[in-house]
Amino acid sequence: MTSLASKLAPESIKKLIPYQSARRIGGSGRLWLNANELEHGVHYSDHAVDYNRYPDFLPHDIAAAYQQYCQTDNPTVAVRGADEAIDLLIRTFCQPGTDKIIISSPTYAMYEFCADAFAVETIDVPLIGANFSLNSEQIIARAPEAKIIFLCSPNNPTGNLLSRTDIVAILEGTQQDALVVVDEAYIEFELAETVVGLINKYPNLVVIRTLSKAFGLAAVRCGFILAAQDVMDYILKLIPPYPMPDCSAQIVQEALSEKGIEMAMSNTQNVVDTKQHFIAAIQNIEWIELIYPSSTNFVLIRTHQDATLFNYLKEHGVVTRNQHHEPALRNCVRITIGSPESMQEVAELINQYTISPL
Ligand SMILES: Cc1ncc(COP(=O)(O)O)c(C=O)c1O
Repeated sequence: MTSLASKLAPESIKKLIPYQSARRIGGSGRLWLNANELEHGVHYSDHAVDYNRYPDFLPHDIAAAYQQYCQTDNPTVAVRGADEAIDLLIRTFCQPGTDKIIISSPTYAMYEFCADAFAVETIDVPLIGANFSLNSEQIIARAPEAKIIFLCSPNNPTGNLLSRTDIVAILEGTQQDALVVVDEAYIEFELAETVVGLINKYPNLVVIRTLSKAFGLAAVRCGFILAAQDVMDYILKLIPPYPMPDCSAQIVQEALSEKGIEMAMSNTQNVVDTKQHFIAAIQNIEWIELIYPSSTNFVLIRTHQDATLFNYLKEHGVVTRNQHHEPALRNCVRITIGSPESMQEVAELINQYTISPL
């Protein structure tokens, strides 16, 4: 029986022979003169580290450390951030000009952006209700038209976790039709809710992760894709020859050590505590209509329509994200949770803000 992955992968990808980089070809020898590298490292600073050799073609140590962190033995690959994962998945399974993806707006803009850039059409099945739930019935109904369904849980910019029951219903209902990619960029803020454990049961599930959020390594550019082997086989055909710079890989190894994970988890708890204090400090303001429940390191605030919170904060040097352009998020501002000091300052500013009478 053909797997879903081989049903979905375009012929051009099936025929593709992965680029044979020098590291991928490997070999044994004494003098390595096969990759047009400099044979000796050049030290541009006092840090005496050699970077003259190309890195591992698939950084296995990092993948193994991440599998251990996720308590899974599902195939795992490190990429340069979750954004690269999104792009790679679309380019692996979609054919430009023909194929479609499904998203549920309002959600992370990169799914549609990467699809647009690759001439792949986006079908939007918007989140429904005041708590931004998945419209699972409609997603399942439209799945035969699509190659990939992107679900973001917890969702950016709404901050809510998607219902596990809905995700499972979608996985069940689309097994013959589409890959379901669950972007868990913020999952450390609700770690028990991860769907990684469902990959064995649902081979159409792909999970995207990142070290940019709870692990605090946005500048290092490291994300992960976890998927069933037949899905991963196609992804690995297209993955760039050297997906992770050595200097990033070294930092990631440390972050994924026992001590590193402990630090990230304790820091995550601090962010959650700061978020609760921040919410408590602003929740009784009458021009704030709603502070949405947040399973992330940000809060989404809906204000009275006359309040221009985004501009007010900007005038005071506080840069937040205006979500007003999204029809479902009129008068909404997304505020990242910073340090306790920063959030106290922002809470004080917000408390000082008064809407001028009309
Ligand atoms: C939902 C979601 N996915 C992916 C990303 C991108 O993460 P990375 O820094 O790993 O590319 C972000 C960044 O804001 C995000 O919010």
